[in-house]
Amino acid sequence: MKKLILTETRKAEMRLTDFSAIHLPAVEKEILSFLDEHTTDRALCDAMTYSVKAGGKRIRPLLLLAAVASFDEPIDVPVYQVAAALEMVHTYSLIHDDLPAMDNDDLRRGKPTNHKVFGEALAILAGDGLLTGAFQLISMAHLGHSPKLLLLQQLAVCAGAQGMVAGQAADIEGESKKLSLEELAFIHERKTGRLIRYALLAGGILAKQPEEILLLLQRLAEHLGLAFQIRDDLLDVIGTTKTLGKTAGKDERMEKNTYPRLLGLEKTHEALEIELLSANKIIDKLEEDVFSFDGRLMRQLIKQFDVEK
Ligand code: IPE
Ligand code: IPE
Ligand code: MG
Ligand code: MG
Ligand code: MG
Repeated sequence: MKKLILTETRKAEMRLTDFSAIHLPAVEKEILSFLDEHTTDRALCDAMTYSVKAGGKRIRPLLLLAAVASFDEPIDVPVYQVAAALEMVHTYSLIHDDLPAMDNDDLRRGKPTNHKVFGEALAILAGDGLLTGAFQLISMAHLGHSPKLLLLQQLAVCAGAQGMVAGQAADIEGESKKLSLEELAFIHERKTGRLIRYALLAGGILAKQPEEILLLLQRLAEHLGLAFQIRDDLLDVIGTTKTLGKTAGKDERMEKNTYPRLLGLEKTHEALEIELLSANKIIDKLEEDVFSFDGRLMRQLIKQFDVEK
């Protein structure tokens, strides 16, 4: 195995692959041990664990951890716990998104969807358990009352009926209707953008940043969130089921409103580039305004949001 060099003075100087290899196993361990220790029903535990272990890119915990590292703050157990909670909420959102009543998908993260393996009732409950467990896990973290309350409150705001859930509702309501680009951006900013916003906001809170920096991080997240869903829409058209680990071409079959459907492929690529350019400009500004901020890790991470033509 490749030996990891842990002697860097700045974590933000690290290669993203090394950063991920060091920190993501700790995030996963927090999720799995939490589920194991706090679930009384074996089948429910298996259902939740199945979707977590199925993998995924872990982009949200990575963004959170990278934000903390960019401010040169230590990545300790409470940081892993908040990152784990965010990935639990995201995994719940995927389990429910795949249900027959929603997008009706059979494949997720390269494996049969949760309801295909465990049945619809247990899949719904696995989602419920992951969502609720996320709040329990943050509540248990060794953090001051004030940042902990803010982290819990903002997770509720970002995940709930004015955040991700609102976006999912609008996405379903919009099926088979032709929406304007503004209406579509509204959906994308919520169904995908809000959990990405939480990643950066939580990273900033854990790195003890003041209000104005938290606002800047949220502006950065708005561009990244929209970029990430534009990318997801694009890959649904140009990607393959094998590489995506989920059924390609599904949006068109479901008559979903997507960037490629509204704008065509060329303009969708352009829209993605515009969001990524704006995101990189905010990273430049963070580097100018905040003495401790080093944007190198974040820039590497943002490259993963791009899609080659
Ligand atoms: C898929 O998210 C759903 C969206 C919000 C676009 P990801 O593309 O992050 O899924 P995983 O976690 O890698 O499976
Ligand atoms: C899902 O968007 C967003 C959430 C799960 C909140 P999509 O429906 O486009 O995600 P995929 O393509 O199924 O991963
Ligand atoms: Mg969906
Ligand atoms: Mg879907
Ligand atoms: Mg999609």
